[in-house]
Amino acid sequence: MPPVSLRGAAFASRYGPCALVAGASEGIGRSFARELAAAGLHLVLVARRAPPLDALGNELRDAHGIDVRTVACDLAEAGAAETIAGACRGLEIGLLVYNAAASSVGRFLDTPLDTHLRAIHVNARGPVLLAHAFAGPMAERGRGGIVLMSSLTAFQGTPLVSTYGATKAFNLILAEGLWSELAEHGVDVLACCAGATSTPGYERSTPRRSPTLFGPDPQDPGDVAREALRALGRRPLVVTGSGNRIASFVLRRLVTRRFAISTMSRAMKARYDRPS
Ligand SMILES: NC(=O)c1ccc[n+]([C@@H]2O[C@H](COP(=O)([O-])OP(=O)(O)OC[C@H]3O[C@@H](n4cnc5c(N)ncnc54)[C@H](OP(=O)(O)O)[C@@H]3O)[C@@H](O)[C@H]2O)c1
Repeated sequence: MPPVSLRGAAFASRYGPCALVAGASEGIGRSFARELAAAGLHLVLVARRAPPLDALGNELRDAHGIDVRTVACDLAEAGAAETIAGACRGLEIGLLVYNAAASSVGRFLDTPLDTHLRAIHVNARGPVLLAHAFAGPMAERGRGGIVLMSSLTAFQGTPLVSTYGATKAFNLILAEGLWSELAEHGVDVLACCAGATSTPGYERSTPRRSPTLFGPDPQDPGDVAREALRALGRRPLVVTGSGNRIASFVLRRLVTRRFAISTMSRAMKARYDRPS
């Protein structure tokens, strides 16, 4: 898939001069950063681990001559939004990509309560905090964009990732509401529902040689980021990957909810409820 910079100077003038990527140190977030740097946007990169963020920042400064600030902070912490806002002082953030997520696979009752609550803090509270902090100035300027990363698990209950899936449904619904509310202020909002994507996080949590949920091979993270950035400003929701679009259409529109949930249940159990 060609780079998003093919959308040309219009992309940078609508969503620049600076983009903030929350969860940028690896995987899909790193791909977002690379695409946005190639489109000429300056960057603020956020994640917990400083070394991979700094390495990415150096790579993108050298390759594209852009300015990059890195912010090592935990988005689950109460003061994360203030830390990030402080690091962005003096910058015009025209695009917010909230990509970070806490995910774990396991039965609800076997998973410590803290793990569930951490997913809610990082995946649901975090996007509200950062959208609230950055959408206001975007609306005042009359332009900007917000991308919230969601998942195919947003469309129906998914066993073994029940809380994670619920947070992804939260992101989908939050993005759709903001898409409508902020449109009148010239701010574009997008929910990006990805399916299995070959990121370090996915590889760490998925047993080898296990079937993907919907059949198609895991997507390349660069393709997911490019599909999202191409869809921004054109629609409220993008499901990335043609196989994922077909599967999600069937599960959302053509079958009962009970059938959709039991299909996900069978797929999850085939993938995770067995020795790796
Ligand atoms: N990969 C898939 O198959 C898939 C499928 C559907 C949807 N998604 C969604 O796509 C997004 C990216 O997924 P991914 O697989 O690329 O990566 P990931 O393992 O979910 O991690 C993404 C990034 O978030 C950062 N991060 C995680 N927790 C953080 C925290 N508490 N504070 C700050 N940063 C944090 C990580 O860096 P640090 O560890 O350095 O903090 C990393 O840079 C997520 O929202 C996920 O839900 C992924």
